[in-house]
Amino acid sequence: MSQETVTITDNRTGQSIECPIKKGTHGPDVVDCQTLYKKLGMFFFDPAYITTASCESRITFIDGEKGILLYRGYPIEQLAEHSDYLEVCYLLLYGELPTKEQMGDFKGSIYQHTMLHEGLLDFYKGFRHDAHPMSMLVGVVGALSAYYPDAMDIGNPEHRKMSAVRLIAKMPTIAANSYKYLIGHPYVYPRNNLGYVENFMHMMFSVPKEEYQFNQTAIKALEIMLILHADHEQNASTSTVRLAGSSQAHPFSCVAGGIATLWGPGHGGANEAVIRMLQQIGTPKNIPLYIKRFKDKKDPTRLMGFGHRVYKNYDPRAKIIRNVCHTLLQELDATQQPLFEVAMELERIALSEDYFIERKLYPNVDFYSGMIMSALGLPLNMFTVLFAVARTVGWIAQWTEMMEVPDMRIGRPRQLYLGSKQRDYVSIEQRGI
Ligand code: SDX
Repeated sequence: MSQETVTITDNRTGQSIECPIKKGTHGPDVVDCQTLYKKLGMFFFDPAYITTASCESRITFIDGEKGILLYRGYPIEQLAEHSDYLEVCYLLLYGELPTKEQMGDFKGSIYQHTMLHEGLLDFYKGFRHDAHPMSMLVGVVGALSAYYPDAMDIGNPEHRKMSAVRLIAKMPTIAANSYKYLIGHPYVYPRNNLGYVENFMHMMFSVPKEEYQFNQTAIKALEIMLILHADHEQNASTSTVRLAGSSQAHPFSCVAGGIATLWGPGHGGANEAVIRMLQQIGTPKNIPLYIKRFKDKKDPTRLMGFGHRVYKNYDPRAKIIRNVCHTLLQELDATQQPLFEVAMELERIALSEDYFIERKLYPNVDFYSGMIMSALGLPLNMFTVLFAVARTVGWIAQWTEMMEVPDMRIGRPRQLYLGSKQRDYVSIEQRGI
């Protein structure tokens, strides 16, 4: 069958180019327009990359219309029900579900690297006592490359694999240490006899004076949260990691950039912003006033936890997390929690309002995740930190995939220039005359 193409014609000159159509396993076809500038002397204009496929990838697939999310072809609903976070890490990194032996080896490699170089613990002291833990995560992860010089050759697959293992292994420790620093408690070292999530909870909440009591419902809720947040195609923070990595920067530095991007309230910072919004609304009777504000074009206030660039149907993660939230709050006898009541009523009203229906604004993963983390005892400023812990594997899997592309080139978007025409320098004596 001949190559299918799209013809792009400049009607001013009659010049045309034939752009090949590339087909994927799932999802829309793409038009390969790499020759546009060379042949027609023009760029495509696509701010915020709304209709741009930035790469080929085999890791995650989202169907925003049908509300589908696949990790290496496996539906998120099945992974949330049957898998665990470390197994999902293996799947995202290596493309297949591990055998028992492969999982044992992978888990063993992760557990060898959960501790931090002791010099890194001094980093936290440089932060103000009330610093946001995301600022510490950016700083400490960015500094990791200064402590592990033995695997800096990103051209070496074994060094790339070591960096991936170190990031997945150390992120919970780095995150928990930031919390302990903020509350003035001693750091808790990781323990290899605990599961990945249990270890995180232990490092976060245990204190020297007593044995930490694990709540298995909370552990299961957190395990699902990490799975749901592990990867999500070319979202803003992942695109940051890929763009940074395209310059051959070290993966620890690239992931530090991803953490900084995730922090924004439009992205991973939304879970914290949802709770602050629910706290601000206070009671269900205040909701109509806020709904009015969310719809007011002149008012920048947005309904946090709603809407998504890709999902124009219910975020499949939100469906799963809604059930986890209900179960956890029932278990903790907290369904009368005012925040939860406001959230349920807000969702009910928002989903019946034309403004949200017309714009296909449904709850996204962040709408419920904040309530779960709140119920788990995580402080508000640690919500996005948990998202970063979960997304670390997605970032490093996408970075690895990019680094394995034979002719990988540095990412370098162009622009539409609207500035001053070329002009000559004027001495200061001549200016304003
Ligand atoms: C995450 O990309 C990913 O995959 C991200 C993520 C991941 O896993 O990595 O899924 C995680 O970031 C989830 C999203 C979390 N963010 C929020 O919950 C913040 C609130 N949501 C909005 O800021 C917004 O919906 C975005 C940022 C999520 C999406 O922005 P878009 O695609 O640029 O949406 P848009 O601005 O084009 O909105 C279209 C219309 C606009 O109105 P009109 O100009 O058409 O009249 O919908 C309105 C927007 O004003 N709108 C909202 C709204 N979201 C969009 N109005 C009120 N409240 C909202 N939340």
